[in-house]
Amino acid sequence: MPAVGGIPVGPGREYPGNLTPYVTVTCIVAAMGGLIFGYDIGISGGVTSMDPFLKKFFPAVYRKKHAAQSNNQYCQYDSETLTMFTSSLYLAALISSIGASTVTRKFGRKLSMLFGGVLFFAGAILNGFAQAVWMLIVGRILLGLGIGFANQSVPLYLSEMAPYKFRGALNIGFQLSITVGILIANVLNYFFAKIKGGWGWRLSLGGAMVPALIITIGSLVLPDTPNSMIERGQHDAAKTQLKRVRGVDDVEDEFSDLVAASEASQLVEHPWRNLLQRKYRPHLSMAILIPFFQQFTGINVIMFYAPVLFNTIGFGDDASLMSAVITGVVNVAATLVSIYGVDKWGRRFLFLEGGTQMLVCQIVVAVAIAAKFGVSGDPGHLPKWYAIVVVLFICIYVAGFAWSWGPLGWLVPSEIFPLEIRSAAQSINVSVNMIFTFIVAQAFLQMLCHMKFGLFLFFAFFVVVMSIFIFFFLPETKNIPIEEMNKVWKTHWYWSRFVNDDDYPNVEMSKGSQATKNV
Ligand code: BGC
Repeated sequence: MPAVGGIPVGPGREYPGNLTPYVTVTCIVAAMGGLIFGYDIGISGGVTSMDPFLKKFFPAVYRKKHAAQSNNQYCQYDSETLTMFTSSLYLAALISSIGASTVTRKFGRKLSMLFGGVLFFAGAILNGFAQAVWMLIVGRILLGLGIGFANQSVPLYLSEMAPYKFRGALNIGFQLSITVGILIANVLNYFFAKIKGGWGWRLSLGGAMVPALIITIGSLVLPDTPNSMIERGQHDAAKTQLKRVRGVDDVEDEFSDLVAASEASQLVEHPWRNLLQRKYRPHLSMAILIPFFQQFTGINVIMFYAPVLFNTIGFGDDASLMSAVITGVVNVAATLVSIYGVDKWGRRFLFLEGGTQMLVCQIVVAVAIAAKFGVSGDPGHLPKWYAIVVVLFICIYVAGFAWSWGPLGWLVPSEIFPLEIRSAAQSINVSVNMIFTFIVAQAFLQMLCHMKFGLFLFFAFFVVVMSIFIFFFLPETKNIPIEEMNKVWKTHWYWSRFVNDDDYPNVEMSKGSQATKNV
C-alpha cells in the first residue's frame, strides 16, 4: 500500500525554467492583492473599539460598553450589532467570489484582480467619508465584493505563473501580504486611536484606499498567465509569454501540456455541474474541507479580537492594542519561514507540525484561563507573569498557524484543480472560507460568554480532526507541475478509487495504487 501521503511520485516531467527576475517581480506585484484582505481583517476590530466611532454610529453599543461593569470578564463585549457590521463583509465576498469565477475563466485572472481593486477602493472612500450608518454598510459591502474578486483570482494567478519548483514560495507571497496588511492596520489603529479630535477612525477606514490602489495599478501592468491566454485561444501570444516567464526558449513540453489541459477544459460546458462528477470528488472535498478547517483553527478569534481578548485577561486598553501588534509581527515573521520551507519540506510536514503546535498552545491557554477565571469569569487579581505566559502561548499558536494552515489554506487549493474546473473550484474555496470566517466572527463573543475557557478546547478539537485528515487524505503536492497534478490522486491509497485510467490517460498508475485499487 502506498504511503498515506501518496507514493513519492517524483517530479515526473521536468519543465525547464528558472526563477527569473521577471516572474519574481510579477508575482510580488500580484501577491499584493492580499493586502486588501489583510488590511480589512486588521482594521475592523480596532475601529469598532474606538469610542468616537461607536458613539457616532452605534450609540446603543457605546452605552452598553460603558454601563455598569460586571465582574464576568467572559461576557463584557457581547454585542451582535457590532459583530454583524464586521462580518457582513464576508457575506458580500462570498457572493462576489462566485461571480468572479466567470470573469476569471472567460476574461482572464487580471480582470478579476482589477475588479477587486476598484470595488475595494470605492468601499474605502465611502467608509472614510461615512456620515451615516448606511454609508458604512454599503462601503463594507463594496469592500467585501472587492475581496471576493481578489481572493478568487490572485492565488490562481500566482500558482499558474510560478515555475513549479518555486510555486509554494511564490504563492505564499499572497499570505505574506495578508499578514503585512493585518500588521500595518494594527499599527495604524494604535496611533489613529490617539488622535485628539476623535476622527482617527476615518483615517483607519479611508486608509484602505492605499492597498486598493496598489492592486488596481498592479492588475493593469501585470501580464496575464500563459494558462489563461491559452484558455482564451491566444496560443501564439501565450507561447511567447511562457518563454519570457520561464526565461528559456525550450518550453515545448510545458506548452503542449497547457494546450492539452485547455482543450480538455473547452469540452466542459458547465464547470459547476462538472465539479459534481465522481472524478472530481478529491478536488471538491479539498475545496470545501481545507477552508473550513482553516477557519476552525480559531485563528480569527485572535486576528479580530486580540485587543478584546487581551483586555479580558486583564491588560489595559493601550497594552491590549500593543499585544495585537506583537501577534501581528509574529504572524508576518512565521509566514517567511513557510516561504522558505514549503518547497523543501513539503506541504504535509508544515500542516502536521503547525497543527501539533497550535494544539499544544490551545490547551495551555485554556488551562491558564480556566485556572484564573474559572467559570465565574472573575479573575480577582492577575499577576503580571500570568498575562505574559498567555500572550507568549498565543504568539506560538499564531506562528504555528502562520507557517501551516494560513498560507497552505490558499496555496493547496490553488494548485490541485485541473484547468477545466479551476476557476469554479477556487470560488468554492473562497466562498467556504468566507462563510466560516463569517460564522466564527459572528459567534465568537457569544461563544466566549457561554463556553468560557472551553472555547479554546473547542477549536483544539478541530485541530486534532484536521491533522488526522491531512495525515490520511492530503497527498504531497510539492514539486509537481500544476498540469500534472492528477497523478497525486491516481496514486493515492484512498482517492485513487475515484479516478479511472481514462480520466487521466497520460498518467502512469503506480503498482502500489493499482494493488490498492484491486482490493
Ligand atoms: C486567513 C484569514 C486569517 C489570516 C491570518 C488567512 O489565511 O484566510 O482568515 O485572518 O490568514 O493571517
